[in-house]
Amino acid sequence: MLPPGSRMPALVQTIGWWSRPTVYVERLRARYGKRFTMRLLGQPPVVVLSDPDELREVFTAPPEVLHPGEGARLLEPIVGANSVILLDEGPHLEQRRLMLPAFHGERMQRLTGLMTELTERELDSWPVGHPVELHPRLQGLTMEIILRAVFGLDEGERLDRLRDKLTAILSFGDSPVSLLPVAQKLLSGRGRFGRFEADRKVVDDELYALMADRRADPNAADRDDVLAMLLAATHGDGTPMADEEIRDELLTALVAGHETTASSLAFAFELLARAPHVQERLAADEDGRYLEALIHEVMRLRPVLPNAEPRLVKQEITIGQTTYEPGTVLILAAALVHTDPTIYPEPKAFRPERFLDNKPGTYTWLPFGGGRRRCLGASFALLEMRLVLRAAAERFTVEATGPRETTKRRMITITPGDGARVQLTARERPVAPAEADGVLVAP
Ligand code: HEM
Repeated sequence: MLPPGSRMPALVQTIGWWSRPTVYVERLRARYGKRFTMRLLGQPPVVVLSDPDELREVFTAPPEVLHPGEGARLLEPIVGANSVILLDEGPHLEQRRLMLPAFHGERMQRLTGLMTELTERELDSWPVGHPVELHPRLQGLTMEIILRAVFGLDEGERLDRLRDKLTAILSFGDSPVSLLPVAQKLLSGRGRFGRFEADRKVVDDELYALMADRRADPNAADRDDVLAMLLAATHGDGTPMADEEIRDELLTALVAGHETTASSLAFAFELLARAPHVQERLAADEDGRYLEALIHEVMRLRPVLPNAEPRLVKQEITIGQTTYEPGTVLILAAALVHTDPTIYPEPKAFRPERFLDNKPGTYTWLPFGGGRRRCLGASFALLEMRLVLRAAAERFTVEATGPRETTKRRMITITPGDGARVQLTARERPVAPAEADGVLVAP
């Protein structure tokens, strides 16, 4: 028997789940406990889990028992059929094995110089002394970082063309209707669907040309970007990845990594703007420990993906005391675990100190999901967040310009309701020794 849950009509539950994703499930948890069933329109029964022991059982279940890939099919028109995010079992493992070295933490360190340069350039353009919405600016920055560090694009016309077309493709995906397979079949070639198909063709052609250039360049293997690693990766039988596979994984990184990182950073600023004492501790942090704790706390309190990928049950499985039949969908509610007062006392308080002496737990801190589907870009995203927050804290203090922002859903991610609106003030920068000498000798 499925866990208890609301008896409201499916339509009402769907609206609640869609429009107030975190508040709605918190209310259901208060009523029904850590596991409950929801009925959503056109969906098999959905069971929401938030007990860390049960999540561990789900994350470690064999790949043939639970299928996260099947639930992400909606993304196929953008990311392509080879995308690691859409696959399950053997094919999933194979794509993951090909991609893992490219996203390995140590490998990421080599991208520090490039990410820092792009960050500094972006921060140069942030206005001081009047209100500014940081979210759109952070979206621009995370897009640029992915195009340069993952796609391996150098500055120039190809980068400009791809930025333009990829932005159009992503905004097409923002509308839920565009991703419905029925709509795609019926409207193929017409209106915005026609434009989308044309844009996708330009993107594909540019990416295949980029790969051909790289394959022909004898020095390309020395490059630090993710594309260089994918071009060098080989399948079990020694054959290289096909251009189509690489294209799909690049697009996957963009879809999975651009909006998520931008929103996480936007929440960081939104929270910092209302916590001057945290900004002061951050400014005085020399060994990076406080910065690390701050990032963990931002991602706990505001997980931009409140749930991991839904797991579709393929074979009967018992989790905790409950047996789930094939066809059930299991939702792993990271946001609920993160606000469980038995795990995090005063869970709604923003308090980076809670992570100073406690490392995040594998099954209690879940912004990147877990198990064999854990976010491949976690090291990439964490490096980027560290660099951006450190650079911004050195330059600015951040103040709120209004009440605490609500959260809103943008397709799959949660973002600050007013776009992380803040006002920046320039910090007095410590004078570098060379400049100080210059002042001394000046007449
Ligand atoms: C703050 C930023 C990010 C957050 C919060 C985030 C979160 C997540 C989550 C929750 C999942 C699903 C995990 C699961 O179901 O267990 C995921 C999967 C994934 N993410 Fe991220 N992500 C971020 C950034 C990135 C970046 C920058 C990239 C790539 C450059 C990336 C690439 C991926 C990929 C490829 C998957 C699919 C993994 C698989 O199915 O095996 N993510 N991410």
